[in-house]
Amino acid sequence: MLLSGGVDTSTAIIAHCLRYLSAHPEAAAELRGNESLLPGAVEEMLRYFSPGTGVARTAVHDTVIGDVEVKAGERILVALGAANSDPHEFGHPDELDIHRDARRHLAFGAGLHRCLGSFLAPREVAILLSETLRRLPDLRVDESGVRPYEVIPLVSGFRAMPATFTPGRKLGLISTDGLPPTRSERDLLRSAELASAEADPDTAGTASAIT
Ligand code: HEM
Repeated sequence: MLLSGGVDTSTAIIAHCLRYLSAHPEAAAELRGNESLLPGAVEEMLRYFSPGTGVARTAVHDTVIGDVEVKAGERILVALGAANSDPHEFGHPDELDIHRDARRHLAFGAGLHRCLGSFLAPREVAILLSETLRRLPDLRVDESGVRPYEVIPLVSGFRAMPATFTPGRKLGLISTDGLPPTRSERDLLRSAELASAEADPDTAGTASAIT
């Protein structure tokens, strides 16, 4: 679950987000200009794209859901994506509105088995979008090459999503020899870069090295 639940879903929502922002440069510009909007926008994109389309449950006793009788032992597919488009819960559900308060979405399921990564994943996506919006501002998805999964048993993701962008100036000089830098080394490197960018915007990003 940690691997399949944590990787395919996250990859899928990242691809959906980047594709959306590529097609909606005005939304990308707004988020770039005001990063405090990012966490809310990520929740809305989780609602709208619902990468985990549904979860299965087995009824432990006879019950009624809506006007449907369910017998103990019967299996139910709970369509999370459909719930996230419920007009009683979300006005104009077929519109993606980065200003909407979408926190009641069910993209991570609900109850005892609610996703273990439901706090980690939105943070990961917000950090990735923040970096991408800043460092690859002209990233454009090549729609002609987008290949969604042929079937969507659980996760609504993509086989391929080519994109173009202008390569930016490399930030930092991370050696490709030996072990990759640790998290604290990367943080130090980043702080040094930010400080040097403030001091001298022309040479920032070229001086520091961690090997
Ligand atoms: C956007 C990314 C993600 C989405 C949309 C997502 C979605 C889901 C959904 C719908 C479930 C089923 C919940 C239920 O049965 O009620 C689930 C379960 C789970 N997810 Fe995620 N997930 C994501 C990221 C992650 C990450 C990053 C991790 C791990 C670090 C993770 C670990 C798990 C685990 C372990 C479960 C099983 C929980 C249980 O059965 O008690 N997920 N996830």
